[in-house]
Amino acid sequence: MTAYFTEEGSAEAVNTRMGRDIDPRLATVMASLVKHLHAFAKEVGLTQDEWEIGIDFLTRTGQISSGERQEFILLSDTLGFSMLVDAINNRRPTGATENTVFGPFHVEGAPIREHGTSISLDGKGESCLYEGRVVDLHGNPIEGAIVDVWSDNADGFYDVQQPGLQPKWNNRGRFITGADGRYSFVGIKPVSYPIPDDGPVGQMLGQLGRHPYRPAHMHYLVTAPGFQKIVTHTFVGGDLYLESDTVFGVKRTLVAPFEHIRGATEWCSPFDFVMVPAITEEGGDAGRTSTVTF
Ligand code: BEZ
Ligand code: FE
Repeated sequence: MTAYFTEEGSAEAVNTRMGRDIDPRLATVMASLVKHLHAFAKEVGLTQDEWEIGIDFLTRTGQISSGERQEFILLSDTLGFSMLVDAINNRRPTGATENTVFGPFHVEGAPIREHGTSISLDGKGESCLYEGRVVDLHGNPIEGAIVDVWSDNADGFYDVQQPGLQPKWNNRGRFITGADGRYSFVGIKPVSYPIPDDGPVGQMLGQLGRHPYRPAHMHYLVTAPGFQKIVTHTFVGGDLYLESDTVFGVKRTLVAPFEHIRGATEWCSPFDFVMVPAITEEGGDAGRTSTVTF
C-alpha cells in the first residue's frame, strides 16, 4: 500500500501515520474511530455541503456549551450514545438494579436529611412517599449506603434551572441507610419535562421529527463502600413518554409502582436498590485503560 491518500485506502492512510511508541489504548481507540468515520462517509456518499453542515452543527454545539450547559453530552444522550457507553460499562447480573443516564442536573453535596422528611421545599406538586431498602444480591441489608436523590418540581424544572425562583436544594437530598438498609423520604410525584431544546440539539431533534421530552422520573445515585455505585432513576408507570424517552433512559425494571395512599394526590412509591460488589481491576477496565488526555 502507498503512503499517499486514496479513497479506497483512506482510513489506512491516516492510521499508518500513528507513531510506534504511543499509548496502546489510544492507538486502538483512534484507529477504530477513523475506520468507522471513513466508512460512514463512504456508506452515505457524504456531500461537501453535508460535511459543512456537520462542521457548523458541531461548532455551534461547542459555542453554546458552558460550565452550566453541556450540549455535547446532550448530543450524546439524544443519539443513544450515553446509554450505550453506560450499558457497556455497567453489565450486571439479573436482579441487580440497572443503571441509566446521569443527566446534567445532579449537584454535589445535597443536604443529608432524616429518613421520612420532605425534599420538596416549594410546596408544589402531589406528595409521594419513596421508601425501600438497599440490599446486596442475596437480600442482605447494606448499612451506610448513601441514597442521593433529585427530581424536577411540579412545573418540570430542576432548582438549578430556576435559581432565585425555586428554593436552593428544592427536591434534593441525601439519606443514609441504617443497619436495616432502609431509606425513606417524601418528594413529589415527578412530571415529564423537555430537555433543554433551545440549541443545536433541539434543532436536530426537530429536523428528525422527534420530541424533546423525558418521562417523569426520580433520580438516584446510590453509593456504599465495597459496592458498585448505582446511577439510575425510577420512572412513573403510565407516563406518556415512557416508550419514547428522548435520551433512551427507560428500562423495564426501573418503572416503579406509584400507589395512592390517601385521596387522589398522595402517593407511595416503594423501590429496593440491589447493589453488586465493586469491580476489581481484572474484571473491569483491564486492557482498556489509558493515561492519555488531549
Ligand atoms: C435528566 O434526566 O435530568 C436528563 C438526562 C439527560 C439529558 C437531560 C436531562
Ligand atoms: Fe431528570
